[in-house]
This record gives sequence, C-alpha cells and structure tokens, in this order.
Amino acid sequence: PTEKGWVANHLHQYQGFWHTSRQLQGVLACQKHFQAQDGDIFLVTTPKSGSTWLKAVMFALVNRVSFPDPKQHPLLTDNPHALVPFLEMEYIGKEHLDFTNFTFPRLFSTHLPLLSLPKSVEDSGCKLVYLCRNPKDTFVSLWHFTNRLRPADRGAGSLEETFDKFCRGVSLYGPFWDHVLGYWKGSLEWPQRIFFLKYEDMKNEPKVQLRRLSEFLGCPFSLEEERSGVLDGILELCSFENLSNLEVNKIGRLPSGEEHQAFFRRGEVGDSKKYLTAEMKEKMDMITEQKLHCYGLKL
Ligand code: A3P
Repeated sequence: PTEKGWVANHLHQYQGFWHTSRQLQGVLACQKHFQAQDGDIFLVTTPKSGSTWLKAVMFALVNRVSFPDPKQHPLLTDNPHALVPFLEMEYIGKEHLDFTNFTFPRLFSTHLPLLSLPKSVEDSGCKLVYLCRNPKDTFVSLWHFTNRLRPADRGAGSLEETFDKFCRGVSLYGPFWDHVLGYWKGSLEWPQRIFFLKYEDMKNEPKVQLRRLSEFLGCPFSLEEERSGVLDGILELCSFENLSNLEVNKIGRLPSGEEHQAFFRRGEVGDSKKYLTAEMKEKMDMITEQKLHCYGLKL
C-alpha cells in the first residue's frame, strides 16, 4: 500500500513498515547484499530517537583504546553519521559497499525493524543495541526535522494532521510502537544479542548506562579506566553541548542531503510538552499503554 505523505513524500508499506521510495531501494539492496560478520555491532533506532548521540558514544566506547587522546579524536573532525553510517541509506543505488576502511569491530546503524534486517544479521553472532525514545518527544523531534530539512515539505501537513498519521502508524519506519515492540521482545528473548536502551535513561544516568553498554558489548571498563575518568571523557566528548558546537557538525550535509546541524536541536527529555495539547498527550499515552504496557514496557 501507499499513503500520501510524510510529509509530501509518498510512503510505501513494506513488511508492515512505511518507507519513502528512495529508502525502500536501499532497504531491498541491503537485505539482498549485506553480509554481516561475527563481531559486527548495530545501533538500531527509529528516526529522531537519539541515533546521532549513540553513534558517537558507541564509536568512542568501542574504539577507546585506538583513540586515547580526546584532543585527537575522530569525532572532532568527522560527523557521527560518517563514522557510523546508516546501512540501508548507504545501499541506495548500490549493490556492493567497501567496508575495508572500517575500524574493528565494524559499527553500523540502521532504522530497519527487526524482521526486515538482512538474514545474515540473524545468522551471524553480531550484536544489536536498540535505542528507544518516548513517542511524544520522538514525534515532535521528527516534526521539526522534516519541516526544517525539506523546504518542499513545509506546510504540506499541519502538526495535527501529521500527529494523526503518526498515531495511525504512518511515519518514517513506523508504526513506531511495532518497531519498538519487535526489539523489546527480541531483547527479552535474546539478551546476549539485543540490548534495549532508553534515551531517557541515558540522559538521567549516563554513566550507569554506559557501563551496562560496555559490558554488553564485551568491552567493560577496567578499574583503572574508571579511576582515570575514561567514562566521563566519553560522555563529555559526546555531550549535546560538545557535539553540537563542533564545526564539523555545524556545517556540511550527509550524502543523502540532510544538514549535519539538523540532527541537533534541543536534546532534552519532555520538550514535546511545549507542542502537544493535553488531548494529544493523552492520545499518545493511551496508544503507548495499549500497545506496550502488557509486554512490561513503559515509555
Ligand atoms: P530533539 O529534536 O528533541 O532535540 P537522531 O539522531 O536519531 O536523528 O535524533 C535527533 C534527536 O537527538 C534530536 O532531539 C537531537 O537534538 C538529539 N540529540 C542529538 N545529539 C544529542 C546528544 N549528544 N545528547 C542528547 N540528545 C541529542
């Protein structure tokens, strides 16, 4: 099925989720051609749930031995999306990608729902980190992002219309709740393979979550690292203030056209309060409760 608009683009439903036709090309090519390897790590998100932040955190975490000097760190000169690319976007118009210049373990990111991941991801021993954010803040962030990025889309749908679509499940890589639920259930079933992380927890207790993440990825912090402030260094390097003020993230665009700076807006929990009416909040909370609470997940 096709549906007019997020916002002006037509969205197409594939394997139960909505994609633009351009994205869908990449999804199909990636499903067909990507070969996962043991040791690969995937960051999985829905759009606007903090992918840029976690890309930076995971890159810094996994490569901390190779880049010990915070003044010489690749994150100071490269955008997080260049260091940890979105797999399905990279595959748009391509069959083969060259990963030879990747650091090891290879780090990828994707917005693909669990059941749409390339088969080799399941068959290999790679690990998935799923970052999830509450749907109200995710929606408001997505609303700002699409309006800011695509001038052609401005005014194509009001906040209210777009909200109704989101609630019906029609949004990029939506239905949001089905996306989250797939990985939540997966993390319960395969805790060694899928790590479920909330944006809000990462904001509230970043050190605790960074430690958990390091243990899941098999690179726990040593006592010496704890003592010498390595965790704090990573969190500081990847903080909203630091990343959003780096020249490399203020200028330039992704190969897909989005401005680097559009990935940094407020970086807060609860910003949606300023944009959603009481009824909208109630509606979104009700859907979340109906869809997720019975599985033990609260957002
Ligand atoms: P807001 O629009 O609510 O500010 P993604 O990277 O998945 O596109 O998500 C973008 C959201 O993450 C934006 O949310 C952005 O501001 C926020 N963000 C970017 N970098 C961040 C950081 N270092 N810490 C916290 N939030 C960050």
